[in-house]
Amino acid sequence: MKKPIFILAIESSCDDTSAAVLANDIVMSNITAGQEVHRNFGGVVPELASRAHQQHIVPVVDQAIKVANVRLDNLDAIAYTKGPGLLGSLLVGTSFAKSLSLALQVPLIEVNHMQAHILAHFIKDGSPVPEFPFLCLTVSGGHTQLVLLKSHFEMELIGQTIDDAAGEAFDKCAKILGLTYPGGPEIDRLAQSGDPDKFQFSKPRIEGLDFSFSGLKTSFLYFLQKEMKANPLFVQQNMADLCASIQKAIVDILIDKLKKAIAQTKVENIAMAGGVSVNSALRLAFEALGKDRNCRVFIPKFEYCTDNAAMIGIAAYFKFLQSDFGSIHSVATARMLLNEK
Ligand code: KG4
Ligand code: ZN
Repeated sequence: MKKPIFILAIESSCDDTSAAVLANDIVMSNITAGQEVHRNFGGVVPELASRAHQQHIVPVVDQAIKVANVRLDNLDAIAYTKGPGLLGSLLVGTSFAKSLSLALQVPLIEVNHMQAHILAHFIKDGSPVPEFPFLCLTVSGGHTQLVLLKSHFEMELIGQTIDDAAGEAFDKCAKILGLTYPGGPEIDRLAQSGDPDKFQFSKPRIEGLDFSFSGLKTSFLYFLQKEMKANPLFVQQNMADLCASIQKAIVDILIDKLKKAIAQTKVENIAMAGGVSVNSALRLAFEALGKDRNCRVFIPKFEYCTDNAAMIGIAAYFKFLQSDFGSIHSVATARMLLNEK
């Protein structure tokens, strides 16, 4: 039997330090250290994030190697997130990956984080894999994109946010409500016992397949300021309903555009990726849409939706097959387009 390709992948684009080992398209280990340090700041503090990556990277990589039960000299390549993301955070993973590739004399593979979120669908874990062409809604803390895939690396960006990302909308609304960062999971949890139709917020009117979330956040803020003037306990007394209503507003914006995109592209497979795709209301709406439009729906396992190194590893595996290796001279890039290498 042919020896599998072993890739060590490193992800450090935002506030999670993650390392994974893949044997071809199978994940042998996927270890992530989160960063508690940002909780009270209502968002990621870049300087604190890069320092925490410095502390986490060695133990996280060490653990990933141990759990995968491989030796360093088994590795065929070292993959890392080149961008987009916070520059100081990216530099930690980039420098580590470069040093290890030099020390082990194995190639480097540079991965675009946004491509990796989508390619997470191809991790072999027993779940069905989308067939090409398919449409992917990528929803994360920094991006909201509608992408049409014709093959692994033929990605056409057909819609994106013109201001805030969907995850950012969740996080900013959560901050307005006084919840801790990251606010998305908090809103999801509190919304479980709330009425999603209790409060209505104005929806953006954006042509085509682009999204906008900043108006929604502002109308949410003004609405709460007005209500709090009349009743200072308004937020406390209505927390669950407020969470359920704002969650519904965000989900509706996403699903409306997805409907349009399905009609326009006539695809039969729809997929979702990124941290926000673990949202329970979005998952339900996404599955219902699939049923309604006769499309097969795909969402990666929870641990492959939020930032993780396994998705960097699977993207790197496809690049390895194309001998698409990186250079020791290339640098981390904070801003990176979907099709940039
Ligand atoms: O993909 P991701 O882990 O990191 C980025 O690349 O940004 O996404 C993080 C985002 C955060 O905004 C977080 O609040 C959101 O995903 N998120 C959620 C949920 N879990 C994570 N948003 C809504 N509901 C959730 N359950
Ligand atoms: Zn991400």
